[in-house]
Amino acid sequence: MSVAPLAALLRESQPCVVLTGAGVSTESGIPDFRSASGIWADVDPFEVASIHAFLSNPERVWSFYRARIHSLLAAEPNAAHHALAELERRGLVCAVVTQNIDTLHTRAGSREIVEVHGSIRTAVCRGCGTEETLEGVLAQLDERPAPICSACGAILKPGVVLFGELLPAGAMERATELARGAELMLVVGSSLEVWPVAGLPLEARALAIVNRGPTALDDRALLKVDAPAGETLIAVVEALD
Ligand code: APR
Repeated sequence: MSVAPLAALLRESQPCVVLTGAGVSTESGIPDFRSASGIWADVDPFEVASIHAFLSNPERVWSFYRARIHSLLAAEPNAAHHALAELERRGLVCAVVTQNIDTLHTRAGSREIVEVHGSIRTAVCRGCGTEETLEGVLAQLDERPAPICSACGAILKPGVVLFGELLPAGAMERATELARGAELMLVVGSSLEVWPVAGLPLEARALAIVNRGPTALDDRALLKVDAPAGETLIAVVEALD
């Protein structure tokens, strides 16, 4: 596989904003959502990851997220995360907008990160707005099926965007602003099936995609590399050396 055209596009099209999805983390051992072996192949997202589920059965939602948080914390950033951090250090990526809640871009050393679907870092009280740290949430989950707000006693909600919820306004505004200012948006590991994030690439002047398998915007991309994210992005960094 030649990544020379992608490396050249990246060099010529600045500023570049990267948009990542679950496919950037599969090489860390975290399953994606919509592949044959993805999380939603076995579990109905409406039952474990929707606001409706949280309101009707928060213990069920927390049982799913408790297991998920533990598996995400056990994972390590992979070659793709490291390559993106390196491209930012070299001034060739100005920001990473991510749909992932796993915090692996931060752990790999990326600086400018917009987490449009929230993250596992906190849980939040929908009643009074109090936030609880990940550490506090995990300590509570060892004691009870769902963590509660230290201020008002209500059940906390995971600090991630559930199906049926609006995206955090500030993060989405920042992501849209970045996309509009981008000469190139490089999508890595996302099926681009979930809106409004899937609309962001259409705001940039040009689109390139690194994804195994099809995405909803393949026909809008200037360049598509259908290959694993880690080896592709490492090869891009090397081609730019
Ligand atoms: N390299 C490149 N692409 C990969 C790799 C890899 N190593 N592994 C998987 N992929 C591809 C898959 O083939 C798939 O096309 O990444 C894409 C992941 O798509 P989804 O599973 O739909 O994940 P994502 O786009 O992040 O989903 C968006 O949906 O359920 C919600 O909130 C969840 O943020 C998530 C949102």
